Amino acid sequence: MATESWAEKSRALAAAGLVVMGRDAQTKIEELANLSPLIEAATASRTRLLTSQSIDELLTIVPTEETITEAEVSTQRKSQTLQATLARPETGQAIGRTIAPITPNEPSPVPRPHGLDHYRMQDFPMQASDVDAEIEIHFDITGSSRTEGKMADIQSFFGDRLKQIRNQLISGGALPRRPVSIAEAWRNRQRHTSKDYEITLVGLASESRFTRAGNLSFVLEDETQNIQCSLRRPSGAGPLHPALDGLMNDDVVGVSGHFLLGERSPLFMISNIHLPPMRQHSKATAGEDQAVSAAFLSDVHVGSKTFLGPQWEKMIQWFNTDPLARTVKYFVLSGDGVDGVGIYPGQERHLAITDLFAQYGELARLLEGLPDWVDVVILPGNHDAVRPAEPQPALDPEVQQDYSDTVFVGNPCEFSLHGVRILSYHGKSIDDFVAGLRSVTYSKPEMAMRAMLERRHLAPSWGGKTPLSPEPEDRMVIQQTPDIFVTGHVHGHYVGNHKGTTIVHSSTWQDQTDYQRMLGFQPKPCILTVINLHTHESASIPFA
Ligand SMILES: [Fe+2]
Ligand SMILES: [Fe+2]
Repeated sequence: MATESWAEKSRALAAAGLVVMGRDAQTKIEELANLSPLIEAATASRTRLLTSQSIDELLTIVPTEETITEAEVSTQRKSQTLQATLARPETGQAIGRTIAPITPNEPSPVPRPHGLDHYRMQDFPMQASDVDAEIEIHFDITGSSRTEGKMADIQSFFGDRLKQIRNQLISGGALPRRPVSIAEAWRNRQRHTSKDYEITLVGLASESRFTRAGNLSFVLEDETQNIQCSLRRPSGAGPLHPALDGLMNDDVVGVSGHFLLGERSPLFMISNIHLPPMRQHSKATAGEDQAVSAAFLSDVHVGSKTFLGPQWEKMIQWFNTDPLARTVKYFVLSGDGVDGVGIYPGQERHLAITDLFAQYGELARLLEGLPDWVDVVILPGNHDAVRPAEPQPALDPEVQQDYSDTVFVGNPCEFSLHGVRILSYHGKSIDDFVAGLRSVTYSKPEMAMRAMLERRHLAPSWGGKTPLSPEPEDRMVIQQTPDIFVTGHVHGHYVGNHKGTTIVHSSTWQDQTDYQRMLGFQPKPCILTVINLHTHESASIPFA
C-alpha cells in the first residue's frame, strides 16, 4: 500500500464508496501508508464523505500500526488455541482437534504502545540521582474547598463553568459572531427564523438524546433562559462530531442556527455546534540538564485479595537493577492506592486487609522498596479515605505520616515537573463518558480523555456517577492544555498523543475482579509507564 499512487488510492476509496472532498483531504490521504484503517473506520461509522476534518476524526479512533499488529497476533494466538491440532507423533500429521480451549482465561498480551521491543537508553539520558526534585503545584483543592453545598453554591459553580468556557470559545475564535443571551435571542425570535438570519448562543446542554430521526435533541440553558435545540448531522461529519457522538450532560457548547416557530413548541435549529478550539499543542520540555523521567501508575488497590503482590516485588527488583529505573525521578500514583473499606456492598469478602489504616500502612511499606532517588506523588481516587466529591483533597495527615519522600496532592491536580505541565486526574468521570458518548467504551478510556480535552472539562455531568463539589469556581474546567494528561480508574492501559498532549491511561496493580469478570472486562495490570521529561519518549514496562 505504501507505494500506491494517488490514482490507485482514489480507486480503492471509490470502491469502498468513499468520496474525497477538497485538496487538504487528498493531501492527508496521500500521506497515509495504509488506507485500510481509514476505510475500516469510515465503514464502521457509516461516513461517506472524507473531508480533512472527518479524516482526522476517523484516524483518531483507528488503532495504530503497532496495535493492529498486536491485535492480529492476539487473534492468531487465540485461533491457534481454539483449534489446537494434535499431531501423530511418528508423522507429525494432524489427527484431531480439541474442542475446548487448552488454556482458558489467558490474559491478553500487553500492548507496547511505544512500538519498540525495548526502550533506547539515549531517549532516557539522565540519572535521577543527579537532579534535585522540582515540583510546582498549580492547582490542588486541599485546604481551599469553599462550598457549603447550598443552591447558591451550585448556581455559582455552573455560572462559573459557563463563564470560563464561554470565554475560551470567544477568545479562541470558535464562534462566527458575537453570542447573544438566550433571552435576547428569544425576544427577537421573529427576526431569526431562517438560515439567512442566524444567531449564536452559548449555554449548558442537558437532556441530550438522539431522536428517532437520528437528530440530537437537547436543552440549552444560560443565565437568562433555556431553549429546546435540535442538531442534524451535517454532511461530511465524522463519528466524533457531537451530532453522531452525542453530548455530555452539562457540557458548555456554542450553537449557531435559527428558530423554527410554528404550531409545535418552538425549536432552535442548529446549523453549527462549537466547542473551544483545540489547536496543536507545543509541549514544554525539561532542560537537557534535567532530563529525568516520571513513572505513572494508579489503582494499586492494596488490601484487596486481587492485589498482585509478586508482580509488585518484580517491579521493585526492576527499580533496583534496571538502567531505565535509574532515570525515574518521580513516581505518580493517580488514585485508588488502597482498596478502601465500605466502598461498595459486600466488599469485605474481597479484602485481604480489612482495616483501612492497615491498608495505607501496607501501601507505605510497598513504596519503601523504591530506590531513594524516587520521589512519590500520591493523589486520592474513589476508593480512598477522603470525601468522594471532586475535586478531592489530599489524604489525611494521619495517613501521610507513614510515608517518606512523598508529596500528597488532591484529585485532580495540576503540577509541573521541571517545567513540564502535568494534569493528573483519577478518572471517575470516565464512567459517565462511557454512558454519555458513543465513541467511549471501557476498553477505550483514551477516547474519554480525548473528549475531556476537547470540551475542556474533566467531569461535566452533575448527578451522574461522579460526585462533584459545587465550588464557587469550577476547577474541573481544563484552563490550560497540559503537556501530559494522566488518568486511571478503569484499569486499562494506553499511551498516546492527542494534538500534542501526551495521554497516559495508567495501569493498575489489581487482577481481574469478580465484577469485571461478570462484565467480561479484561484489565491490563502491572504496566509501568515511564516518560522522559526532556525527550518525551515513553516506555511501557510490563511486570505481569
Ligand atoms: Fe481503581
Ligand atoms: Fe477508581
